[in-house]
Amino acid sequence: MSNQALIRKLKDRSAIIGIIGMGYVGLPLMLRFADVGYRVLGLDIDRAKVDKLNRGESYIEAVPAARLKEALGKGFSATADFPRAREADALIICVPTPLTKHREPDLSFVVGTAESIVPHLRPGQIVSLESTTYPGTTDEELKPRIESRGLAVGRDVFLVFSPEREDPGNPQFGTRTIPKVCGGSTPACLEAGIALYEQAIDRVVPVSSTRAAEMTKLLENIHRAVNIGLVNEMKIVADRMGIDIHEVIRAAATKPFGFVPYWPGPGLGGHCIPIDPFYLTWKAREYGVHTRFIELAGEINSAMPHWVIGKCIEALNERGRSLKGSRCLVLGIAYKKNVDDIRESPAVELMEMLIDKGADVDYSDPHVPVFPRMRKAYFDKQSVPPTPERVAGYDLCLLATDHDAFDYASLQRHARLLVDTRGRYLEPGPNVVKA
Ligand SMILES: NC(=O)c1ccc[n+]([C@@H]2O[C@H](COP(=O)([O-])OP(=O)(O)OC[C@H]3O[C@@H](n4cnc5c(N)ncnc54)[C@H](O)[C@@H]3O)[C@@H](O)[C@H]2O)c1
Repeated sequence: MSNQALIRKLKDRSAIIGIIGMGYVGLPLMLRFADVGYRVLGLDIDRAKVDKLNRGESYIEAVPAARLKEALGKGFSATADFPRAREADALIICVPTPLTKHREPDLSFVVGTAESIVPHLRPGQIVSLESTTYPGTTDEELKPRIESRGLAVGRDVFLVFSPEREDPGNPQFGTRTIPKVCGGSTPACLEAGIALYEQAIDRVVPVSSTRAAEMTKLLENIHRAVNIGLVNEMKIVADRMGIDIHEVIRAAATKPFGFVPYWPGPGLGGHCIPIDPFYLTWKAREYGVHTRFIELAGEINSAMPHWVIGKCIEALNERGRSLKGSRCLVLGIAYKKNVDDIRESPAVELMEMLIDKGADVDYSDPHVPVFPRMRKAYFDKQSVPPTPERVAGYDLCLLATDHDAFDYASLQRHARLLVDTRGRYLEPGPNVVKA
């Protein structure tokens, strides 16, 4: 069997697109394929999510319920019934790839997905892995499982790796306009992969192998992790020297070539940057290579919350107070501004550290009204509105994530002590301390 029948179905939009993992990545991708005229089947092991989706209820801020209802009207449906994978011509895997507690790749979601779809695969399908992972995953984990069914990859089933890229909260780029890298197990797989994605995405960037595509995604995220580590270290040095690092970065960024601004903060957050580099570190060990830049950046970035807490303690001390027994308000707990995602957020670590040191902690985040259940930390707390009266009642307001929704002038007017980890305040006032 060749890939031609599949490519024809992809081009004339009669193909059914199956998306496995209806999360931050899978849902927007579903919307895009539905928009361009495909019937999309969303598969997820979480039945509560499946039921919500079928009722047109969204659980992700960036995916409005109205857009979901539109997609339902165009034939989208969600299911937890994996034998239905057979109905789909394309199966796109967007499941989590976290780290284990020993900070090693946790491929259990990818492997679990493979094991639940493999019994239902049939000739003429394309399988695309989008989850971020180390080079070799598609070839070593997916290909043998597919072939164990007697289906030849490149002849019966077409297998590609095409990493997800997104910048949550950035209105300038969306699924359609972010170029998509794609690598195939064989030339026929790549051809099918290009045919799949070019229907929905403006620019598909082919690479020579699934390994090259896997490594491309890791390079992008390692580049960020290392550069953020660099500016975080520069921040500590500048602070010691009484220099404002944000002023320095703004000035350096006027250089029209050869400099890219990265901004320091209270640490690294999100599902990707703190995690993905260690997928490469782990795999590189198999080849006897030690990834020193990744380790060093990880060391600096993961020490940042401790440095911020040290600055808070110092600032309180100067005002004759100890952190123990202080009332603290953490402003912004999402891992970056204007999003509702708190995974790996350094703000959550800051909350934990403040509580451990005996502070009485509230948080305020318009994007996270109730603290969600997370694997690591959980607080039975709800966001409090940062009204002038409330803000004035705290010994310490710690700006961890600078959402646009905050009224910065009001915070500065009313806070007794405001520790700013994001360089939001250009001029340090008597009650503003940069950290
Ligand atoms: N969120 C981002 O900004 C982003 C950006 C680039 C890459 N990625 C990568 O994309 C992948 C998915 O991330 P996400 O943020 O969408 O995760 P998510 O947690 O938001 O969504 C994953 C979904 O997969 C489901 N799931 C888990 N195991 C499953 C299984 N065996 N079968 C079917 N469904 C299953 C979960 O119930 C959940 O709905 C990860 O590898 C991540 O690193 C994420």
